[in-house]
Amino acid sequence: MKNCVTLILNWYQEYKRDLPWRKDINPYHVWISEVMLQQTRIESVIQYYNRFMERVPDIKSLSEISEDELLKLWEGLGYYSRARNLRKAAIKIMEKFDGIFPNQYEDILSLPGIGEYTAGAISSICYNLPHASVDGNVMRVYCRVCNLDLDISDLNVKKDIKEKVEAILPIESGDFNQGIMELGEVICLPNGIPKCNECPLQYHCLAHLNGCESLIPRKISKKEKLEEEYTLFLIKCGEKYALHKRVDGLLKNMWEFPNMEGFLTFDEVKEKVPGTLRVEMGITNTHIFTHKKWYMNSYFIEVKEELSEYSWFSLDEIEKKHALPTAFRPFFDYLIKK
Ligand code: ADE
Ligand code: SF4
Repeated sequence: MKNCVTLILNWYQEYKRDLPWRKDINPYHVWISEVMLQQTRIESVIQYYNRFMERVPDIKSLSEISEDELLKLWEGLGYYSRARNLRKAAIKIMEKFDGIFPNQYEDILSLPGIGEYTAGAISSICYNLPHASVDGNVMRVYCRVCNLDLDISDLNVKKDIKEKVEAILPIESGDFNQGIMELGEVICLPNGIPKCNECPLQYHCLAHLNGCESLIPRKISKKEKLEEEYTLFLIKCGEKYALHKRVDGLLKNMWEFPNMEGFLTFDEVKEKVPGTLRVEMGITNTHIFTHKKWYMNSYFIEVKEELSEYSWFSLDEIEKKHALPTAFRPFFDYLIKK
């Protein structure tokens, strides 16, 4: 992805759309446009934006307008809490920031109706602060360029992508953020029809080079997303047990018992774990996370030699040094009692 940064910046310089809020860099203009764009398509936003600026040209007038009149101006855009929050934020700017739009990320984020995405967009576009603004467009482009088959509706995935984008953010963070967003809006289209032959990243994009851009990001059904089945391997070698460190996603960097997705049969387990001396059924457990439910089955397995893909610890070491997530705790308790 790093070698794509300059390509995105150059593409944006050449092809950026001529939008009314891009005529100058005015935080008020950028703010209003970003809030309108949160849930509304760009074509509809343009007319609303122009009408809005005629009636409410600056922060002061926004802080003084009546809520009724504001809602009337917003009529048709939907998600009316956005309009109410704009007014509240304008009043806060008048009171707390002397009527001047703040130029620090934390201050911008503190305004009503402004979340990480919008704060990232405003602070980078207006002040080139080093923050990414990661929306669905950005996630799609990122996952395709890196050929990552991730569930982009998972908030942990979004957080990870934001970190990765911030690690490669150039000085011109505003142009980069707008460039990658715009690439997602006009070239790297959703629903399997990106215009790769017009894309500046076509010779670097791993999904395109592999011919699988239309499969990314994968649509994940509600059931598939909410309920997952795993088989845990409780592998013992002498007095030590196998653990594995989770590399990303949910419970990132925490230890777990080796596991595979799905409920495996006895024979499948023997096939997957080499050098088994003994395999027997273990216990089951269900764990509910905020957005997921895991059904876990387990097998107790004894092996001849420590398998090199895992780290090996005694139960005492696990207890003292390698805190297991709650989801796995019952399996540890089972091993203690065994
Ligand atoms: N979509 C939302 N905000 C945008 C921006 N600043 N540039 C391009 N596309 C966007
Ligand atoms: Fe998207 Fe195709 Fe460009 Fe890859 S090459 S970023 S899939 S438009």
